[in-house]
Amino acid sequence: MPMRFGRFLFGLAALSIAVAFARSVKSLVPASVPMATEDRVQLPGWWPTKGTASRDEFLGPDACEACHASKVRTQKQTPMAHAALRPEDSEALRSHEQLTLSLPPYTYQISRQEAGSLYSVTDGKQTISLPLSWAFGLGQSGQTYILERNGTFYESRVSYFPVLDGLDSTPGQSQAAPSTLEDALGRSMLYAGETQRCFGCHTTASTTNRRFDPGHLIPGVTCEACHGPGAKHVAAMKAEKIKVGLKAILDPGQLNPVDQVDFCGACHRSYVDVVLSKTFGIRNLRFQPYRLERSQCWIKSNSGITCLNCHNPHQPRARDLASYDDRCLSCHRSPAPTGGRSGKVCAVSTNNCVSCHMPKYEVPGMHAKFTDHFIRVIRKDEGYFD
Ligand code: HEC
Ligand code: HEC
Ligand code: HEC
Ligand code: HEC
Ligand code: HEC
Ligand code: HEC
Ligand code: HEC
Repeated sequence: MPMRFGRFLFGLAALSIAVAFARSVKSLVPASVPMATEDRVQLPGWWPTKGTASRDEFLGPDACEACHASKVRTQKQTPMAHAALRPEDSEALRSHEQLTLSLPPYTYQISRQEAGSLYSVTDGKQTISLPLSWAFGLGQSGQTYILERNGTFYESRVSYFPVLDGLDSTPGQSQAAPSTLEDALGRSMLYAGETQRCFGCHTTASTTNRRFDPGHLIPGVTCEACHGPGAKHVAAMKAEKIKVGLKAILDPGQLNPVDQVDFCGACHRSYVDVVLSKTFGIRNLRFQPYRLERSQCWIKSNSGITCLNCHNPHQPRARDLASYDDRCLSCHRSPAPTGGRSGKVCAVSTNNCVSCHMPKYEVPGMHAKFTDHFIRVIRKDEGYFD
């Protein structure tokens, strides 16, 4: 127990120093310290969720097909590409004529229409019905809906969960019964930039010229959400100006490891984002950059392991846990790989590493388990280790 507490304190102290350091020196050495996403997007050049380019610089994924056909084909199959869907493209909505949930004194209903879906809430006397604007989340773990009423966006009070094959309360929303039918629709996203941030992580080119413009976005996280607007790259490549073309697009594969993890963290939340938002306990489980960077594997290997060791962003993630073994064994084997590092070797098993060292935890309200990216030895009966 004392040891754990000590590690926790050390963790927090180290975090605040890292944050202070990152923020004070960012203009000097932007490339080598973990940073907050809000600071990253202020630097010159592209960064995911940055909203300064103009809409006509974005071409959409079909424009990449002629030269990067296989990436376009496989990326389309990823949940990221479907992080925001038109209701008529949502499998969860298409396969249910009607979804209902009673959260007294209100009753919710989502019914399939000829085109799209209708969301209704009633208190038995009055009813508000609205067409759904967007379905957020492919729906593998859950799907939440966005509604628009009189110019205000709402996050639906009920979400779809595949394990329930039905609706339940949207995680993170107040459990208290709303006092008006209007409030019962969902959480209104009135305060500054919230809707914009939602769309910034789930779609491509929703904010352009610093203006939120959902009418012209490209649904889902597609090529240019990560690589930046592609018009200049495509024009140069077509003209066979290779050098100009390469300069006009970001290749995150060339970033150093700290930047690479922050890159995915633009949406998955970077280490510093998590510290600044003071998200402690099980609520930070899903912020993989933060969890990974707490691991000895990251700290003691001089940032030798990034998201890209285990995930190809152009493909759906590998579901077979044993397929991750070779990444672990690239460091944890004896004798050391030629020219490579040798980490300690496991005395317990030679395979299925992540099944023990990256356990899955249930997140309250989510009806699903998520993978802990804080790689470590799990002591018997140990709960979530913050
Ligand atoms: C006319 C052909 C062409 C089109 C269209 C095209 N690219 Fe490329 N792209 C290339 C060539 C050639 C390279 C360099 C060789 C390579 O990495 O495949 C390249 C390289 C890249 C790189 C790596 C850059 C680097 O510095 O290594 C990225 C990222 C990229 N393209 C993204 C895109 C995106 C996103 C689109 C669609 C908006 C796109 N490309 C459309 C031809 C094209
Ligand atoms: C522009 C925002 C954005 C960026 C940048 C981003 N992601 Fe994602 N990612 C998402 C969203 C949103 C989802 C949820 C998709 C869903 O389930 O609807 C997601 C889901 C995922 C998943 C789970 C789905 C699957 O493939 O099985 C993985 C793995 C993943 N991202 C890896 C990465 C990696 C690695 C990077 C960095 C190279 C990255 N992401 C960068 C927004 C982003
Ligand atoms: C900072 C970026 C970011 C913002 C802002 C954001 N999301 Fe997400 N969202 C993600 C990522 C990344 C995932 C995938 C997380 C994972 O699988 O670990 C995700 C997943 C989801 C999912 C899929 C179910 C689930 O929990 O995996 C839903 C639904 C969702 N987000 C809805 C929303 C809504 C609604 C908003 C605005 C109120 C929003 N998100 C704002 C990045 C973001
Ligand atoms: C979630 C973020 C993300 C999305 C979405 C994404 N990429 Fe990438 N891309 C990366 C990262 C990270 C790398 C560097 C690692 C690698 O090479 O896989 C990369 C590398 C590349 C490269 C250069 C490396 C190589 O293998 O030639 C090309 C070309 C490329 N991407 C094209 C595309 C195209 C086309 C799309 C859309 C179909 C796309 N990317 C969507 C993150 C992304
Ligand atoms: C880039 C190299 C690298 C990779 C890849 C890597 N590790 Fe590590 N890991 C280390 C280093 C270095 C340490 C510190 C102890 C040591 O020297 O082994 C460590 C420590 C550990 C520890 C002990 C942690 C503790 O808190 O005492 C475990 C367990 C572990 N790694 C498991 C894994 C598993 C499982 C994977 C694959 C999912 C993996 N590692 C991938 C380098 C790596
Ligand atoms: C050492 C390997 C490894 C590294 C490094 C890694 N992941 Fe994962 N990731 C996994 C495994 C294993 C799963 C679970 C696969 C499954 O069960 O489907 C997973 C699952 C996920 C999921 C799906 C949701 C969940 O919680 O199960 C997301 C999103 C994700 N990773 C994002 C990231 C991001 C972002 C990074 C970089 C910060 C990253 N991962 C680094 C191995 C890794
Ligand atoms: C059945 C669960 C299980 C599996 C599977 C497993 N481990 Fe372990 N591992 C453990 C436990 C438990 C310990 C702690 C042993 C102890 O302290 O006596 C451990 C310890 C470790 C350590 C720390 C060693 C040290 O000397 O401090 C590393 C590194 C490690 N495992 C890596 C791996 C790798 C790599 C794999 C896959 C090849 C793997 N483990 C598979 C349960 C597992």
